Amino acid sequence: MNLFQLDEQDNSRINSLLAHLTVQYESPCNPLFLQEARVLSSRLPEPLMSRLNAFRYHEDHNGLLMLRGFEVDDRQIGPTPNATGKEIDEQSAAREGFLLMLLASFLGDSLGWANQRNGALLNNVLPLKDHESEQLSTGSVADLSWHNEEAFHPFRADYLALMCLRNPDNIPTLVGSIQDVHIPVEIKEILFEPRFIFHTDKNFDQGETYVPVPEPVLFGDFKAPYVRLDPAFMSPAPGDEAADRALTYIIDAFDSALRKVPLTSGDILFMDNYRVVHGRKGFKPRFDGNDRWLKRVNITLDLRKSRAVRPGQRSHVIITD
Ligand SMILES: [Fe+2]
Repeated sequence: MNLFQLDEQDNSRINSLLAHLTVQYESPCNPLFLQEARVLSSRLPEPLMSRLNAFRYHEDHNGLLMLRGFEVDDRQIGPTPNATGKEIDEQSAAREGFLLMLLASFLGDSLGWANQRNGALLNNVLPLKDHESEQLSTGSVADLSWHNEEAFHPFRADYLALMCLRNPDNIPTLVGSIQDVHIPVEIKEILFEPRFIFHTDKNFDQGETYVPVPEPVLFGDFKAPYVRLDPAFMSPAPGDEAADRALTYIIDAFDSALRKVPLTSGDILFMDNYRVVHGRKGFKPRFDGNDRWLKRVNITLDLRKSRAVRPGQRSHVIITD
């Protein structure tokens, strides 16, 4: 694992910056803060930013970067919320949200979806009572099948960042990198062709009239491809048996390459959404205020490409209807 460990000096520098930002801006999704976040990120420790920059600049790694050692005060963040929604997602654990947004804004621009929690730019990942068996980040008992985030959508995030606020039962996040997957050339050639249908998940119900067109699974450099996969929400083009076999092959290959990463309090995991899939094993939720609680942000390198489907030039929220 590509790991950067924050030390005491780093934490002290981060703490004073966060103390200042929470007073000045109150919310990490305050538009005035979002406008300045990239500039303010230069006040974070330089070795940390240098490492994050290298993660973005090079692709000679597996697409994962873990920042470890950020100090989260378990009492100060309060109990794990028992609901989600734009306000609670963006306002809860605001100090921690500020750091996540600073780091995200250094890498690119945060991105929200109007269909997901009303466009919240920071999302809480935690178990909800009525979602226990759902294939959603708020599910629990059911395995959350691995996937690229919003694989079906052309404006999906380039990176995802997850910050762990608490995880007392060490529930692992599952990650799999295309770098660890070997695909024979003849199968790769099929996966590079537009022979696969991507369906939308429950958050993005596009109605019965929506007809997806076949698209490739792999793209970019044939020798070091990017990947888009969401096995629970995709299929080969109807009647295409070779595409069916190729899809089965790459799904099995990712299954074998999956690694368990149990995030602990203060961990911040960056994932390249073009090179890494992620998921979660099922777990038994507590619903006692101490459940696993992560914060998530979607990061795009090119906000402009979604301009036609954002309500304003400054908006970071994609409208999908
Ligand atoms: Fe996801």
